[in-house]
Amino acid sequence: MQSRTRLVFLTWVFSNLILTAAIEPISTGIAVGMAAALTGLLASYQNVFYYFQECCRPEWISFNRTGLQVDLEQKLFGQHIASKVLLKAVSGFVNNKNPKKPLVLSLHGWTGTGKNFVSQLIASSIYKKGMSSSFVHQFVATVHFPHSREIDIYKTQLQQWIKGNVSSCARSMFIFDEMDKMHTGLIDSIKPFLDYYEMLDGVSYRQAIFIFLSNAGGESITQVVLDFWKNGKDREEIQLSHLESAMSLEVFNNKNSGFWHSSLIDKNLIDFFIPFLPLEYRHVRMCALAEMAIQNMEKDEDIADKVAKDMVYSPKDERVFSSKGCKTITSKLEYYK
Ligand SMILES: Nc1ncnc2c1ncn2[C@@H]1O[C@H](COP(=O)(O)OP(=O)(O)O)[C@@H](O)[C@H]1O
Ligand SMILES: *[C@@H]1O[C@H](CO)[C@@H](O)[C@H](O)[C@H]1NC(C)=O
Ligand SMILES: *[C@@H]1O[C@H](CO)[C@@H](O)[C@H](O)[C@H]1NC(C)=O
Repeated sequence: MQSRTRLVFLTWVFSNLILTAAIEPISTGIAVGMAAALTGLLASYQNVFYYFQECCRPEWISFNRTGLQVDLEQKLFGQHIASKVLLKAVSGFVNNKNPKKPLVLSLHGWTGTGKNFVSQLIASSIYKKGMSSSFVHQFVATVHFPHSREIDIYKTQLQQWIKGNVSSCARSMFIFDEMDKMHTGLIDSIKPFLDYYEMLDGVSYRQAIFIFLSNAGGESITQVVLDFWKNGKDREEIQLSHLESAMSLEVFNNKNSGFWHSSLIDKNLIDFFIPFLPLEYRHVRMCALAEMAIQNMEKDEDIADKVAKDMVYSPKDERVFSSKGCKTITSKLEYYK
């Protein structure tokens, strides 16, 4: 494709040259000028090409810290811990010229609390094309690796994919959704890529970013947030340290989770465990208002209230946290339009 475009382009340039020569055969001045122009064009041709076609270069991959910060502050609701940790983790890693290992983030929390959403924000702050960049790869356990009897095929395939993609662009990003439903063997198969090796089969993985999403730990996180709420304390007073031990205990002790069996955790391959707090009524309301803006609907506080009231809240006595977070808001909004 690339060479064909080049050929067409060159043909065009030369036919213009011949045409010019035919019209003004005596004017050597013009011919010299054309030759100079041609050289210039050829030199810049590569750059013109990069301009249109996504490639593994700073034109397409460069981190916008301010962009990420603004997005996290303005678009992500009720996640003060995740917001702070992620900004530090990502900018620290991306600005480090010599990382010793790839960045490995593990996001935990109930469904609909913003784990996928935040991964999109991170992708958009690094890749010009965001999630549609050909350097961002997303895997969903139940979609891409559904049958446990085919685990050996998946393993080989996934390893080849990661290797192939990182070979063609060191700054590649891999998002694994439903990590708690992923087969242990499969998690183990990506372990080498997350480690401190300088090279693995001639490929360095140290610029890559891995993001794991799971619901594991969600119950313990909710318990901590609920205790704060019951004691009349501000949600923003909750700190990472309040959640860390509870979270890792649940992740470790969950016998069904691939995490528990795999040695990702005890080998310290995960750089950051990031908790996502369950969302309250006011956050769901904010999600509804944000969605209205995205859909170019007129801002309507009453509809936002209705949408938020429609959600199911738990635990069944207190009813403080939206069971599905901000998921399904889009379809609920459709109903009130
Ligand atoms: N904390 C949040 N702040 C703003 N929007 C959110 C938040 N959590 C969820 N949403 C909205 O709900 C949708 C579904 O959330 P998602 O990120 O897929 O949840 P999950 O935690 O299950 O990955 C998102 O696309 C986003 O629009
Ligand atoms: C970075 O993000 C900010 C805020 O969204 C934006 O104003 C700015 O243009 C971005 N910079 C680049 C180089 O894209
Ligand atoms: C990169 O990963 C994708 C899956 O996201 C896969 O389809 C593709 O074949 C991989 N590329 C290489 C070169 O391995």
